[in-house]
Amino acid sequence: MILEALAYLAIPCASHLRRMGYPGELVAIAARYRRRRRDWADHLANSRCVVEDAIARTRGRSRAVVLGAGLLHDVPLAALAAAFAEVELVDLVHTPWTRWQAKRLGNVRLVAADVTGTLASLADFGGPDLPVPEPSLGTAPADLVVSANLLSQLPILPIAWLDRRRCEGLALSADAIVEFGRSLISSHLDLLARQAGTVALITDVERMTFDARRHDRPLVESEDALLGVTLPWSGREWIWRIAPAPELHADQDRRHRVVGIPNIRESATT
Ligand SMILES: C[S@@+](CC[C@H](N)C(=O)[O-])C[C@H]1O[C@@H](n2cnc3c(N)ncnc32)[C@H](O)[C@@H]1O
Repeated sequence: MILEALAYLAIPCASHLRRMGYPGELVAIAARYRRRRRDWADHLANSRCVVEDAIARTRGRSRAVVLGAGLLHDVPLAALAAAFAEVELVDLVHTPWTRWQAKRLGNVRLVAADVTGTLASLADFGGPDLPVPEPSLGTAPADLVVSANLLSQLPILPIAWLDRRRCEGLALSADAIVEFGRSLISSHLDLLARQAGTVALITDVERMTFDARRHDRPLVESEDALLGVTLPWSGREWIWRIAPAPELHADQDRRHRVVGIPNIRESATT
């Protein structure tokens, strides 16, 4: 607990992002990773494999950009740094660990940016119209763009933030909040589709809950991680054992279905 509080304070971050919970979320992911390293191993290896495959499919060797770089668990950073003259890691917040990893390699730069272009106005939102997403890479175009387990995360804290404001009396319907979340997802997909180079996309698409009290672990709930937005491309699929019992609940096993696409332009459209 003390270590987590120190880690939280050590993350430099704009105050509106701190209010919305972003550094806290990264600290929570780091803590869960430490507890669930073995359960996450396949998912992280599969994700890194998709990025390595994307590197092999990319002709240009000037720049690679990773969106949602986070704690770099799923990013083969050394392979990227060896393959490209310059690598940029884009995220809202960068932890001291990520800074250290970047510095060690010499050609890796950190970019602090909001790829949805909405969070600054959302933090002070008083109604009536929600901001329109202005999706961006946060940096210049690149030979390879990787969206690394970011897509389904884009609406989570914004929706939680707006739900809280709604409970405090802000006149906003629950439907409008979910619709806003959807717009963050679809505008990120549009952004990826517009890129000229190789684009690798790794994202969870389904969140499943299994009954851990029973031997046969039946599925009890399934939730669309993309809020009903259809992924326009198909790729490899695997299951991420994100929170086996009792990580979140003594009687629930949580698993996510993940899709990994090394290059959206070479994938079959769905
Ligand atoms: C689940 S993590 C991705 C996993 C990460 N690649 C890793 O290995 O740790 C999602 C990341 O997306 C970042 N993120 C969420 N919303 C963002 C936004 N609007 N712009 C940029 N980064 C964002 C979070 O800060 C977090 O680091």
